[in-house]
Amino acid sequence: MIEYEKSSNVVWHNATVTRKRRERQNGHKGGLFWFTGLSGAGKSTLAHSVEETLYQNGYRTFVLDGDNVRHGLCADLSFSDEDRKENIRRIGHMSMLYVEAGIVVLTAFISPFRADRENVRKISGSDFHEIYCKCSLEVCEDRDVKGLYKRARAGEIPDFTGISSPYEEPEFADLTVDTESQLQKCSDAVFKYIVDATRT
Ligand code: ADX
Repeated sequence: MIEYEKSSNVVWHNATVTRKRRERQNGHKGGLFWFTGLSGAGKSTLAHSVEETLYQNGYRTFVLDGDNVRHGLCADLSFSDEDRKENIRRIGHMSMLYVEAGIVVLTAFISPFRADRENVRKISGSDFHEIYCKCSLEVCEDRDVKGLYKRARAGEIPDFTGISSPYEEPEFADLTVDTESQLQKCSDAVFKYIVDATRT
C-alpha cells in the first residue's frame, strides 16, 4: 500500500467530543466490518441487509460501497493493481474517521489483495473485522447481476477480478459467510457477530 509521508507542519487536533463519549451516547462501540469477496458475491446486498437490522435495533451505522465510492472520492482510480491499492488505502482511512465518530461501518469492496486488507487491519487495530463473503466464481458469474462477467469474458473489461485479475482469499478471516446460500442466514450470522463485537 502506498502510504504518503505527511507534511511535518500538520498537527492532530484532539476533539472534545471524544469517541468514548460518542460511544457512551450511542450505547455501542464503533467498529469496521470489512466485507471482501468477488464481484457478485453479495457483499453490498449483505452489508445493507445487516445495516437494516442494526438500524432497526438503534445502531448508528454506515455502508461504504465500492461502486458508490468510485462515483466520487475514488472516481479517479482504475482497476489496475496500484489503483485498487490506493482505493483500499483511502477507504481504510475514511472508515477509521467514521469509527472515530462512533459509527458501525460496513464496507463492501472486492479488496482482492491480502496485503491491502492487512494494511487496513494495521491502521485499525482491533476495530477491524474481516468478513469473507465466500462465493465461487461459477456462482458469481452465473448471477452476473451487472452483466460485467459477460463483458469481461468477451474481453471488453480489462483486469476483471476472477477473470483477468486475481482475488486472494482471506487466510484468517474473522468471520466467513457462505453467500452462495440463503442471504437471511448470512445476515443473521453477521448481525450477531457485530452485536457481540460492539458491546460496550
Ligand atoms: S476493488 O478491487 O478496488 O476493491 P471495488 O470494490 O472498489 O473494487 O469495485 C468493484 C466493483 O466495480 C464491482 O462490483 C463491479 O461492479 C465494478 N467493476 C468495474 N470494473 C471492474 C473490474 N475490472 N474488476 C472488478 N470490478 C469491476
